[in-house]
Amino acid sequence: MKGRGLIFDEPSVIAVDTRSREVLALGAEAVDLVGRTADHVVTVRPLSQGAITDFDMAERMLRAILHRCGMSRMSRPRVLLTVPSAATSIERRALKQAAEHAGAAKAVLLESPLAAAIGLDLPIHEPIGSVIVDLGAGTSETAMISLGGVVALKALRIGGSDLDRAITDDVRMQSDLVISDLVSEELKIRIGSVNSEAVSSAAEVHGRRVSTGTPASEVVTTEMIQRATTDLVDAMVAGVAMCLAEAPPELAQDAIFEGIHIVGGTANLDGLVARLEIGTSVPVHVANNSVASVVEGTARCLNELDQLASFFESASR
Ligand SMILES: Nc1ncnc2c1ncn2[C@@H]1O[C@H](COP(=O)(O)OP(=O)(O)OP(=O)(O)O)[C@@H](O)[C@H]1O
Ligand SMILES: [Mg+2]
Repeated sequence: MKGRGLIFDEPSVIAVDTRSREVLALGAEAVDLVGRTADHVVTVRPLSQGAITDFDMAERMLRAILHRCGMSRMSRPRVLLTVPSAATSIERRALKQAAEHAGAAKAVLLESPLAAAIGLDLPIHEPIGSVIVDLGAGTSETAMISLGGVVALKALRIGGSDLDRAITDDVRMQSDLVISDLVSEELKIRIGSVNSEAVSSAAEVHGRRVSTGTPASEVVTTEMIQRATTDLVDAMVAGVAMCLAEAPPELAQDAIFEGIHIVGGTANLDGLVARLEIGTSVPVHVANNSVASVVEGTARCLNELDQLASFFESASR
C-alpha cells in the first residue's frame, strides 16, 4: 500500500463454504485448513500457472484481500497487478476485471519481469539488455528488457508447484505412500537439492499406503527428490538458454557480460543457480530477497503511476 509498504504477503488460497460460496478463510489460514475441513468447506486456488482458472473465486479472493488490507468499495483503491509476460490478452482482461469487480476503482497491469527489473534497479530505460529470470510456483519466465520493454521472452508454464507434484508422484510410485503436495513442498525446501554433489539429507514423512489405505511413514532422501525433479529443472534451464539464444545478438552480449538476474521463490532451490550457470554459460545473480523483487518493483511503480503510464498500457494489451 502506498506509503505503508508491504502489508499482506500470503499464499493465494481461500477456503470457501460450497453452500453459500462465502469465503471463510484467506491465505495462510486457508492453507492450514487443507484436508482438515468439513465436506462443505473446500480450499480453492483461483490462480494456477500464472492465470485465473476460476473467475468468480478470483474475484472473491481479491475482495477478501482488499478487505483484509482495510479497503472497501468506499475507499475506491487504485490497484496495480502484475501479470506474467506470457499471459494472453484474455487472461489479462480477466485479471483486470476481477480486480474491478472486487472493488478497485481502477486496476492497472504491469508485466512481472518489468516489475522485478524495477525492484532490482536495473537500467531498464537504456538500450542495454537486462535479463530477468522469474522462477515462481506456476511459471518460469525469462525476459530480456531493453528501452523499457520486453524484447525477448521465453515462458514456461512450469514452476515450483510442478516440482512438488513430481515429488508426490515419485513417493507414491516408489514408496507406496500417498502424501500431499504441501508435504512435498516442505521436503523440497528442507532437503531438496538439484546439485548432484549435495550432501544428502533424509526426512521421515507420514501418509497413507496406496495399496491398503492404512497410515504409514517412509524416509525420503535428497537423491529421491533430485531424481523426481531433474527433468523439470532441465526444462527450466533450457527455457533460460533458449531466451538468450533467441534474443537480438547485441543485447545478448550485454547479458553475457552483465549476467542474468534470477528472482522468485524457486530461485532458492539448492543447486539451481549452479545448474543455470552451467546450462547458460553466463553469470547468474540471485536477488537478496528473491521472492520480494516483483512486489518491491510494483510498490515503486505505485508511487510513479502517472510517469510510468506507458508500461501499464502495454501490459493491458
Ligand atoms: N527455499 C526454497 N527452496 C525451493 N523452493 C522454494 C523455496 N522457497 C520458496 N520456494 C518455492 O517458490 C515458489 C513460490 O515462489 P513465488 O512466490 O515467486 O511464486 P509466485 O509468484 O506465487 O508464482 P508465479 O510467479 O509462478 O505465478 C513455491 O513453489 C515454493 O515452493
Ligand atoms: Mg511470481
